[in-house]
Order: sequence, then structure tokens, then C-alpha cells
Amino acid sequence: MAQVTLKAAEGIAVLSVDRPEALNALNREIVDQMDELIDQVAADDSVRCLVIHSDKNFAAGADIKAMAECDEEGAKVFAFSPTYNKITKLSVPTIAAIEGYALGGGMELALTADIRIAGKSAKMGFPEVTLGIFPGAGGTIRAPKLIGPALAKEMIFTGDAIKADRALAIGLVNRVVEDDQVLEEAMKLAKRIAKRGPVAVRMVKDVINRGLEEPDVIKGTEIEAEQWAKLFNTYDQKEGMKAFMEKRKPTFQNR
Ligand code: CAA
Repeated sequence: MAQVTLKAAEGIAVLSVDRPEALNALNREIVDQMDELIDQVAADDSVRCLVIHSDKNFAAGADIKAMAECDEEGAKVFAFSPTYNKITKLSVPTIAAIEGYALGGGMELALTADIRIAGKSAKMGFPEVTLGIFPGAGGTIRAPKLIGPALAKEMIFTGDAIKADRALAIGLVNRVVEDDQVLEEAMKLAKRIAKRGPVAVRMVKDVINRGLEEPDVIKGTEIEAEQWAKLFNTYDQKEGMKAFMEKRKPTFQNR
């Protein structure tokens, strides 16, 4: 039975986990379903933005009951990183809309997104050390890059969850809204992004990500300049600038 759904309309795809009885804890089947749906998003030219959102709880982590008896080989098979990495490689912007718990593998799923929006009562953290393991789906790599090593280490070493206001203060989430506004806020933001020049948005996501991996700032600006200039071969650049001069809204064609 499908426990992950993908709904797409007007350029926005929404990926949701539906396993409320386990607070949307993620198991192998769920992540495999997610993987297939991410492939669909990647292949769909009409998608301008992906929102990851599940009702009530983003995800209370990897399924502890399914992991409990794993040996080393079993743990490797259970690992979520191949799918999570696929999400980070999507060319379109991604937004995690976080209600309730985003813990462990759930927090790590949220970290695959470009932007995070949380509800006021969201609780986020990495409880893995309370289980005798550590975050194994990108958390040890992505959290330090996002919030800095000291704050990430504090979260990961203690396993303590933090509330939305603290997550906002340390840059773990971009904004905090009323609990019942989380999806609406994410959709509003996705729609704003979807209106922008799609080739430019995809390209700038790639340039920013490459810049973050590039230790040499000058090299980073060279990549930026090269990609920036390429946009002047696109219809959308001509249309965007013409529309400005004609004082009208642009009609981008994604080319
Ligand atoms: N795995 C499996 N089942 C889970 C789960 C998880 N991660 N989180 C919650 N559930 C299940 C509970 O077992 C319970 O099911 P039963 O009624 O069948 O017992 C149901 O969801 C509701 O949960 P609780 O009764 O515990 O709800 P609560 O409101 O009292 O507590 C909670 C909520 C604090 C989130 C608590 O459920 C909890 O601590 N969950 C585990 C969180 C966690 O440790 N996550 C990290 C997992 S490890 C990981 O993610 C590794 C990685 O790096 C990929």
C-alpha cells in the first residue's frame, strides 16, 4: 500500500508520508516509494518547486522497530542516504514544511530541502544517541554546514529536541508560522518561486550549491559568471528584460 503520495498542480509537487499511527516514522518501503516519486519529480519538466509535507508530524525518524534487529549489513540496506541525496540533487527548489516532530531521519529529510518552514509547536532534533546510534542519513554532514559545527554537535551529542523558536534563531528553519499555516505558507512561497524565470532558478540553485562545495571563492565567482552569461542565450532572459521595459509581467517559457 502506498504510504507516500505525490500530488502536482500548477508547477508545485507535494510529497507526503501517510503513516500517522507511527508519527510518519520512515521505513525501507516508505523510502523506496519516496525514491520512485523523486525520480518522477526529476523527470517532470513542469515541476518548478517541490514541497515535502506530512500531516501533523513531519516524521519521527527512521522506524526503530524495523531497525532494531539490523546487523551491519542490514543497516547498510536500511540506510536512507541514496534517496535523500537524490532529493538534494533535484534541480528545482525544495521546501520542507514541518509540523510536529521532525526527528532523526525525519530531521535529516528536512535537511535535504533548500528551505524549511516550521509550525510553532514543531520539535526538531537528532535523538539517535539515545538509541545507541548517530544520525546516518546526512545529519552529521548537513546540520553542521547549515547551523555550524558547534550547534550541530550540541544537538547531535545531546539528542535533545529543540522547539521552533530556537530552530529559527539558529538558522535551522527559515521561518515559523502558526501550526495550521505550515503547508499554506510553504505553498505560497513555492508559488512565488514558480513564477520566476525557471531556467534561472534552476541554474542559480546549482551555482549556489557548487559555490558551497567550492573552497576557492574566486573559482566560485568564475563558475557563477560563466553560468550567469549562459542565461543570455535563453528565451526567458529576453522575455524577462523585455517585459520589464514594456512594464508588464513576463511570460516565461522555461527555455
Ligand atoms: N519508529 C517506530 N515507531 C515510532 C517512531 C519511530 N521512530 N516514533 C514513534 N513511533 C510510534 C510509537 O512506537 C507509537 O506506536 P505504538 O502506539 O504502536 O507504540 C506511535 O508511533 C506513537 O508514538 P508515541 O506513543 O511514542 O508518541 P508520544 O507522543 O508519546 O512520543 C515521540 C512522541 C517523542 C516522537 C516518541 O514517539 C519518540 O521518541 N519516537 C522516536 C523518535 C526517535 O528516536 N527517532 C529517531 C529514530 S533513529 C533514526 O532516525 C536513525 C537515522 O539516522 C536515520
